[in-house]
Amino acid sequence: MNLHTQPASWPLAGISHETFLQRHWQRKPLLLRQAIPAFKSLLSRTELFDLACDDTVESRLIRRQTSGQWDLQRGPFSRRSLPALRQPDWTLLVQGVDLLDDAVAALLARFRFIPDARLDDVMISWASDGGGVGPHVDAYDVFLLQAEGRRRWRIGPVRAPRFLPDQPLKLLADFVPDTDHLLEPGDMLYLPPGWGHDGVAIGPCMTYSIGFRAPPAEELLQQLLWKLAENLESGPRYSDRGQIDTFAARTPARLPRTMVDFLQAAFARLKPGRREFEAVLGELLTEPKQQVWFDPSTQTVAQLARACAHCGLRLDRRSRMLYASASVLINGERLASPLGRSSLLRRLADQRQLSAQDWTDATPLERAVLVEWCEQGWAHPFTARQAKHELN
Ligand code: SIN
Ligand code: CO
Repeated sequence: MNLHTQPASWPLAGISHETFLQRHWQRKPLLLRQAIPAFKSLLSRTELFDLACDDTVESRLIRRQTSGQWDLQRGPFSRRSLPALRQPDWTLLVQGVDLLDDAVAALLARFRFIPDARLDDVMISWASDGGGVGPHVDAYDVFLLQAEGRRRWRIGPVRAPRFLPDQPLKLLADFVPDTDHLLEPGDMLYLPPGWGHDGVAIGPCMTYSIGFRAPPAEELLQQLLWKLAENLESGPRYSDRGQIDTFAARTPARLPRTMVDFLQAAFARLKPGRREFEAVLGELLTEPKQQVWFDPSTQTVAQLARACAHCGLRLDRRSRMLYASASVLINGERLASPLGRSSLLRRLADQRQLSAQDWTDATPLERAVLVEWCEQGWAHPFTARQAKHELN
């Protein structure tokens, strides 16, 4: 799929990306009838259930019991442990399907009018009649694409959320929806973070949630501080030689001032400049999720280089790549100068592919890093057939 040949409104049912971003994004919900006309699910129910049985995949089974109590179980599941299809009020949710399936990754790529740094994943749910996850809010911008069957979405703003006690899910206690939409296959509903929603399957149905993280600052900061501390060049080891006075024997529980001074000085060294800060943030945002493993290539360096020279290359669907003013970040790793400023690598990050001509124009250093990524399975040379399809 070549993103650059798609109309500017794709997949927003004729609304331009610009209008959508100005009027709706992070402001208010938008229902898009036939956002993807004649959309057919990219995975069958059986394929989705198979994923939920895989121990490298994150999945959940949620049931609403007749008592009103909710039940949550986490995968992997065995096929026999899933409820019967005709049993109402249950749903199976599979996370990160874009990492597992090229067609779903291509669907996610349709949403790259939003920066990659915001992309989270595609979750796919299958629900029996009446199934859903209950009224809730998400810390995400989300596009809810109806893939099969029908789902009724009731949505509304939530000012001061209160949650039901003693439930395994964070469910809104007094959700008052103000809008009701019935979605058919190909319809899509956009919701900003914090917007209340409750989707109930009208007959069996499948829904794709294309999510964009909108984390609170403290969540990112926690991880950022951790990374900054990791990157801190090893400084002096703590020493209190000549610093412990004779009072310590009487007050051994007292926190020594020397130790506080020592750590406070180390903490001051943590404070990064702008470039370091953006590089660390990029490392963090490109870090592969826990369940992601790359398959190293079985080809030799010479074979990989030859294949790239003939047909170009593409990033693996699981690779995350960003760039900042002076660095290129890929799968949690940083390339600093001179590769950190390479326009070729920036183009690879934006287009997720390079042509044979790009390869010819690349410097030896750029080629060396590209081949290294192919060896690691972070990128792959195109086959002749793919190159014809993707790059023409
Ligand atoms: C679902 O697919 O049932 C849940 C999607 C959501 O509400 O975020
Ligand atoms: Co939700």
